[in-house]
Amino acid sequence: MSVIEAPRSQARPARKRGVNLEKWGWIYMRASGVVLLVLIFGHLFVNLLVGEGVKAIDFGFVGGKWADPFWQWWDVLMLWLALIHGANGMRTIVNDYTNPGTTQKLLKGSLLVAAVVLIVLGTLVVFTFDPCPAGSPADLLPSFCPAV
Ligand code: HEM
Repeated sequence: MSVIEAPRSQARPARKRGVNLEKWGWIYMRASGVVLLVLIFGHLFVNLLVGEGVKAIDFGFVGGKWADPFWQWWDVLMLWLALIHGANGMRTIVNDYTNPGTTQKLLKGSLLVAAVVLIVLGTLVVFTFDPCPAGSPADLLPSFCPAV
């Protein structure tokens, strides 16, 4: 008869008091997943299938979309939800495959730094994007800019 070994004890037992962050992280993955389905497939549909489709994508296409607050917020929401979802999912994988210690802290710290930097930079790009920067050579500007 084969004997199944006892599983390893939990590396970090769940906290008994206060907010259960692991539970909320678990709920976030499901809730953000549902919203991301709408955002990602809406994004792909509008960019790749509507009108001329993928052939229409150029600097002017992006500039035109980001001139509209609706698409700015769509893209920023997609950026925030996907980066937090991806980083939290990677945190789960790190927890599953490494033991507590310096390496684990380094891996999770890198995930946090990468997610924060990309969220800050991406949000700045979407909200400060100027398709017609003053003083640029006319041949580099899209045709809808007033100077061209
Ligand atoms: C189409 C929209 C998406 C849906 C519906 C979705 C759904 C989910 C769900 C339900 C989980 C939890 C799985 C579990 O705990 O067993 C998960 C995990 C994960 N997701 Fe997403 N997700 C989506 C998009 C993304 C995107 C865009 C990224 C990357 C930026 C991503 C990266 C991850 C990672 C790394 C995990 C952890 C996998 C693991 O625990 O083994 N997902 N996803």
